[in-house]
Formats: sequence, C-alpha cells, structure tokens
Amino acid sequence: MKRQPSSSPRSTKRRTVSIIGTGSYVPEKILTNEDLSHMVDTSDEWITTRTGIKQRRIAAKDENTSDMATRAALNAIEQAKISPKEINLILVATATPDMLFPATACFVQKKIGATNAACLDVSAACAGFLFAVEIAQQFITSHTYDTVLVIGADKLTSITNWTDRNTCVLFGDGAGAAILKHRGGSHGVISTHIGSDGRYSDILFMPGGGSRCPITRDNVDLNLQTIHMNGKEVYKQAVTAMLSAAKKALEQAGLSIHDIACVIPHQANLRIIEAIADRLGIPLEKFYVNLDRYGNTSAAAVAIALDEANRSGRIKAGDYILMVVFGGGLTWAGTVIEW
Ligand code: UT7
Repeated sequence: MKRQPSSSPRSTKRRTVSIIGTGSYVPEKILTNEDLSHMVDTSDEWITTRTGIKQRRIAAKDENTSDMATRAALNAIEQAKISPKEINLILVATATPDMLFPATACFVQKKIGATNAACLDVSAACAGFLFAVEIAQQFITSHTYDTVLVIGADKLTSITNWTDRNTCVLFGDGAGAAILKHRGGSHGVISTHIGSDGRYSDILFMPGGGSRCPITRDNVDLNLQTIHMNGKEVYKQAVTAMLSAAKKALEQAGLSIHDIACVIPHQANLRIIEAIADRLGIPLEKFYVNLDRYGNTSAAAVAIALDEANRSGRIKAGDYILMVVFGGGLTWAGTVIEW
C-alpha cells in the first residue's frame, strides 16, 4: 500500500502545486574525454574513473544561456499545453546569465512571447533550479500567481578555464524547464528544504566580472573571469549537504527514502551520487544519472534529468520522487514531489 505523507502543515494545508510540463535542451556539439586529452594533460581513464563523465555538450559561440533556456521552455510549454500568455512569472536559475543585467528571464520572456509575466533570475549556482521551484511554489500557494515557468540554464563553458585540468573536464552546457501550476488533487510538490552556508563561498566561485573585480585587462590576465574551485573540499561538502537536504525534505514530507521511486540528484560526479546512495542505504539504480552524457551543467543538470526521466517513463503518475542538489555558495536543496 502506498504511504500517505504526514499531516504536517507543509504537506496538507497548502494549495497543491503540480509540475504540468517539462522540457530540456542541450547543444549539438559534443566534446569527448578523448578530445580533452588533446587540450590538457588528462585522459579518458582519469575522467571516467574520477567523475563518471564521458562527454559533454558545448554551446555555439552565438548560442546564449537565454537561447538554451528558451528551447527548454518551449518544450515544457508544449507538454503543458498552455499558452505563453498564461505564464505569470518566469524564473531563470543561472550562474551564467547572458548579461549581469537585465535578467536572462527577460530575454526568455521576449523570445517566447510571455507578455503577462514578471521576470527575474535566481542566483544559487548549481542548486538554483530547486531554489526557483521553491520560490514558484511560494507564489502559487500564496495565491499570488497560478502559472510559473521555472528554468535552470547554464553555459558554464563560457566561464571555464580551458587550461585548468582540475575544472575544465567537469562542465557542459544545457537547459531544463518546468511549468508549475496550481491544480486540484493530490499530485504535486510535497516538501522543499533549501539552505546555504556563506562560510564556504571561497571554495567554488568566479571572482571576476562583478563589482569586486570588474572586467579589466589585468583581471582577465589573471583568469578571474573563470571558475575557481577547491575540488576536494567541494566534494566533501556536497555529500554532507545533499544527504542532509534529502533527509530534511523526506522528513517534511513524512516519507521514508524507501517510499521514493526515483532520486534525481545534481549531476556533478558519479562518486558523489554513489556515496549518497550508500549513506541513504538504497541501490544506485534508484538514481537517475545522465552525467556520463552531459557532464555538470550546473543549474540545468537536475532540470534536464527531470525532463528525461519524465519523457522516458522512468517516473510515472503517483510516484514519489526526490530531487537533491548542491552548488557554490554553498547552496543546497531537496524536494519531494508526488508525480
Ligand atoms: O557543481 C559543483 C561543481 N564541483 C564539483 O562537484 C566538484 C567536486 N569534486 C570532485 O568532483 C573531485 O574532487 C574532482 C573530480 C574535481 C577531483 O577528483 P579527486 O579524486 O578529488 O582528485 P584530486 O583533486 O585529489 O586530484 C588527484 C590527482 C592530482 O594529482 P597529484 O597531485 O596526486 O599528482 C591532480 O593534479 O589528479 C590530478 N588531476 C588530474 N589528472 C588527470 C586533477 N585533475 C586531473 C585531470 N586529469 N583532469
């Protein structure tokens, strides 16, 4: 018999928020581990065994974050069978906006013709998609809006240092989207836990391009406009933060990990996912993994995985799914959804 979520205020008293459509997009160009081995001192063997990544997609020079976000959004809109004019709010989670301002969400609005929407970007690095889902949920449950377009999109290859083998082998480009809407019935977002710890803001960051280190010749010579990362420390914090977020989201939902049909995690490193599976005491087969094909696409990663799991039938109506992410900030989030 299917377990019912507990009667916590979060799970029963709030207006039901459902995901009524998903979409995703990845660029055509593929960069394999073998290709990378001709660019820096690395090998397919090292990248595969340390990360699980085999290849990643690279956006074209003139293909911006908003272009990928738009393609994903249009797929989600089509599946949701809504008109762009019905969208009240567009949230784009990204660490690589087209420009510092205006918001990338405004570019998406223009491209899809969502003329009735308010638009803003969400800055929570790789965890941004679930932060945006929580913001959308708050707007819908408070009766402010009915229909929200949530997008996770990143062009990390535009801020990658292609001479740094510690980072350049990890990242790829893409976008994923979901339409959230109030809908009667029991399906929907049951619980979300989001969190941050600014004490670790110096282990994964891009120092340049903002007001602290503006774009100057000297700063560009120092590669400040690229990702800086302490990989080992990020790895450690990621396992701890994702485990804690998963447990808190499950507890708020009144569910056990064994009630979950599919876990959709941030796609950064297969070893991180294996460590979480091990500590949660569930088999790796319960996790949806696509990082071998796309690498780490930051805010897009969990959104692309959700769309693939949805369209391939890996998740079915009535399934409980757990999404769990972490990113620079540090930021982390866990969300339980009845599909
Ligand atoms: O969305 C969040 C984004 N970031 C992450 O998720 C990163 C989390 N961290 C990780 O995934 C892992 O720490 C890495 C994959 C980045 C690195 O794996 P590791 O097992 O922690 O390796 P390491 O940093 O301890 O490096 C081991 C060795 C070093 O050589 P020495 O000092 O032992 O001689 C590195 O220089 O591997 C070397 N190395 C490489 N060798 C070949 C580092 N990168 C490479 C490479 N190819 N690409």
